[in-house]
Amino acid sequence: MSASRQVLIAILLALGIVWSNGALAAQSAPGSSLAQTPPMGWNSWNKFACNVSEQLIRQAADAMVSSGMQAAGYQYVNIDDCWQVSRDAQGTIVADAARFPSGIKALADYVHGKGLKLGVYTDAGTLTCEKRPGSLGHELQDAKTYAAWGVDYVKIDWCHAEGLDPEVQYTKFRDALAQAGRPIVFSICNWGVKAPWTWGPATGNLWRTTGDINDTWDRMSVIGFSQNGLEKFAGPGHWNDPDMLEVGNGGMKPDEYRVHMALWALLAAPLLSGNDLRNMTSETKKMLTNSEVIAVDQDAKGVQGHRVWDEGPLEIWAKSLADGSSAVGLFNRGESELKITLDFKTLGINGRAKLRDLWQHKDVGVAEDSYTAAVPKHGVVLLKVSK
Ligand code: GAL
Repeated sequence: MSASRQVLIAILLALGIVWSNGALAAQSAPGSSLAQTPPMGWNSWNKFACNVSEQLIRQAADAMVSSGMQAAGYQYVNIDDCWQVSRDAQGTIVADAARFPSGIKALADYVHGKGLKLGVYTDAGTLTCEKRPGSLGHELQDAKTYAAWGVDYVKIDWCHAEGLDPEVQYTKFRDALAQAGRPIVFSICNWGVKAPWTWGPATGNLWRTTGDINDTWDRMSVIGFSQNGLEKFAGPGHWNDPDMLEVGNGGMKPDEYRVHMALWALLAAPLLSGNDLRNMTSETKKMLTNSEVIAVDQDAKGVQGHRVWDEGPLEIWAKSLADGSSAVGLFNRGESELKITLDFKTLGINGRAKLRDLWQHKDVGVAEDSYTAAVPKHGVVLLKVSK
C-alpha cells in the first residue's frame, strides 16, 4: 500500500469512517460491535401477533431459560407490533397500560435479571402495520426513550411509509440510536424494498430481504432458497434476514422444519424463534437447540452460505467455517425420497473427506471423491465436511 493511501486511511479512521463491503460505513453505526454473529432470540409476532402483554413476555423469558434455549445461545426477547398505543403531550411513545401495566422499563429489568435482552418494535412511517403510532418525525426521541428503558434491540418496520426513501429514513434511525448512546441491535424490516443489502451494512445490523414468512412449506422454502447471491453482503455485524423462524408452530412437518432450521443456519440468518416457548414438544425443543446446527449459524467466520449445485428439486448449499471445514446441506424439495450425491470437488476437495451428520451428532466416516445420501421428501441431510 502506498504511503499516501495509508495516510488517507488513517485520516478516514480518525474521522470514524472505515471501508466495509466496498461502501463507506460509518464506524459510529449503532452496534458496530454488536451482532458479531447472527442475533438469536425469540419474537412474539409469528405466534401471537397483536396478542402481546407483559405477562406473555415475562413467561417467554422464563421459558427461554427453563427450556434450555438460553443455554443454546438464544438471548433476545423481542416484543413485536402492538405494545404501543399513543404519544403523550411531549410526544413520548406510550405503552398500552392495560397490557403492559408495569411499563417497558420494568419489563427490561425483569428480562435483564434473567441474563437476557429485550427488544421492541416500531415503524419508520406514520403508523405501524397494526396502526399503532409510528416513529416518523420522532426518530431521536424514540431512540432516547428506548435507551432510557434499557432496550437492547429494535426492529423498525416499513408500513405507512409511502413516499419515503428507506435508505434516508433508516439512516436517521442509525444516527438517532448512536446519539442515544446505548448499544442497541438495529433490525431493518422493509421487506427487501430498494435492495437493503446494498445500504444495510452501513446502516443496521440486519435487514429483511423478503416479505413475511408464514408457517407453510411453500412460503418458507420459497423465501429460504431464494437467498442465493446475497451472501456477499453479509458478515459480522451486518446480516441478511430472511425473516423469523416458524419452527414449532405446527404448520410444517418435522422434516420441513429441519429444512427451515438447516437452511437458516447455512444462510447465517438471525435465529429468532417464533413459537410458544412455554409449550414446546421435545421434538421442537431438540430442533431449536441442536448445538451443532446452531454452531453452523453462529460460526465465527461469519460467512453466509450459498448454493453450490442443483438439479431439478435437489439443491446443495455450503457454508465455509472458521476451522477450514464446510457445512453442507443436501436438500430435497421434491415429493418423494431421492438420492443426492455430493461431489467433493464442489467444495474444492480432491479425494478423501471426513463427514459428520450435524443433526444426529454422528461421524459418518471418510469417503473418497463423493458421498451419496438418501434424503427424505422436503428434507435435508446436514453435514460437516472436512479434509
Ligand atoms: C410486518 C413485518 C412482520 C411483523 C408485522 C407486524 O411488516 O414484516 O415481521 O413485524 O409487520 O405488524
